[in-house]
Amino acid sequence: MTALRAWLGERLPLRGEQLRAFTNEPVPNHMKRWWWALGGTPAYLFGVQVLTGILLAFQYQPSPKTAYESVRFITHEAAFGWYVRGLHKWAATLMIASVVLHQLRVFFTGAYRRPRELNWLLGMGLLLATLTAGFTGYSLVYEQLSYWGATVGANIAGSVPLVGPVLRRLMLGADQYDAHTLSRFFVLHGAITPAAIVVLFGMHVLLIRLHGVSELRFEGEPEGKKGHFDFWPDHVLSETIVALVLMILLTTLAIVFPATLGPRADPLSTPEIIKPEWFFYVAFRWLKLFSRNVAIAGMGAIVSLMIGWPFVDGWLRKRLPRAEPSVWIGAAAVLAIVALTVWEGAVSH
Ligand code: HEM
Repeated sequence: MTALRAWLGERLPLRGEQLRAFTNEPVPNHMKRWWWALGGTPAYLFGVQVLTGILLAFQYQPSPKTAYESVRFITHEAAFGWYVRGLHKWAATLMIASVVLHQLRVFFTGAYRRPRELNWLLGMGLLLATLTAGFTGYSLVYEQLSYWGATVGANIAGSVPLVGPVLRRLMLGADQYDAHTLSRFFVLHGAITPAAIVVLFGMHVLLIRLHGVSELRFEGEPEGKKGHFDFWPDHVLSETIVALVLMILLTTLAIVFPATLGPRADPLSTPEIIKPEWFFYVAFRWLKLFSRNVAIAGMGAIVSLMIGWPFVDGWLRKRLPRAEPSVWIGAAAVLAIVALTVWEGAVSH
């Protein structure tokens, strides 16, 4: 054992102290509670997605003739296919939910403010990449709802002024959803969005490491060294417990609410009710509330405002130093998102 350690130490000249100094930043005490340290949850769930996604890709065949049949095979015949598909589906749902909750935590604690504006921008990139992965993944199943959901999505993209037709063509790779679309979505889902998430997450963590996590002080909490704990092993151990609890939850969800398969896509028959996945309900309802052009312009304005929020907030705070406009604007946005999502979920049209 000693000989092996000496052999390895010579070839990999890394000392324990060096590693500890590099990884062991002091973490503020508030991060002991899961809801303040929510960023670790989508990071873990992304790992689950990569592993289960690789297993699914062994069997999945992206072409209109084979896609649906291969998903049916995974669900009903492949060994543990139902479990792997169930984990992938539920981890996607929980990943999107936890990214949104993490963003809300960052928003309402003002953790995006100077000097962390760039990390907010990277976070917005992570949010958009996560949503793209959700959209393209659902469309791969090639069932009636996912086919028509993707077609509606492409038509919405096609209505964006100026760039719309090019955007639609880029998305579908053809005039309508066909074999080109499936291979395009497969590459986007299985390679481009995961690679984008890895790169963006790496930069996100680098900035967190450079700035440290925001110090949130609660009444009665000690300051200085006593107000912090070690990343290694303390934070890593509590994240491991979160990961174990999440795996039990994912397994329970995959057993109790297994991933189902609707009827096969039929490009010649539009279903009476078209619904996207729950995380696009808000956008879908928004589009039904206004005329196409007004809704798309409004959506563009809202996403741009979200991206530029740290700078808008800085500008507002200079003019209204004693008011906290972000709290009111954030609370109104959360209420609107919940209301539109519930509304879309509750009605058929
Ligand atoms: C896949 C998605 C994401 C992952 C895996 C992730 C991961 C993390 C982690 C591990 C932290 C350390 C502190 C914590 O856990 O709260 C963090 C902090 C941060 N995140 Fe994210 N994040 C994601 C998305 C986002 C989004 C959507 C935003 C906002 C638009 C965002 C903005 C920030 C900011 C500003 C910080 C610094 C917070 C502070 O210093 O207190 N992140 N992120």
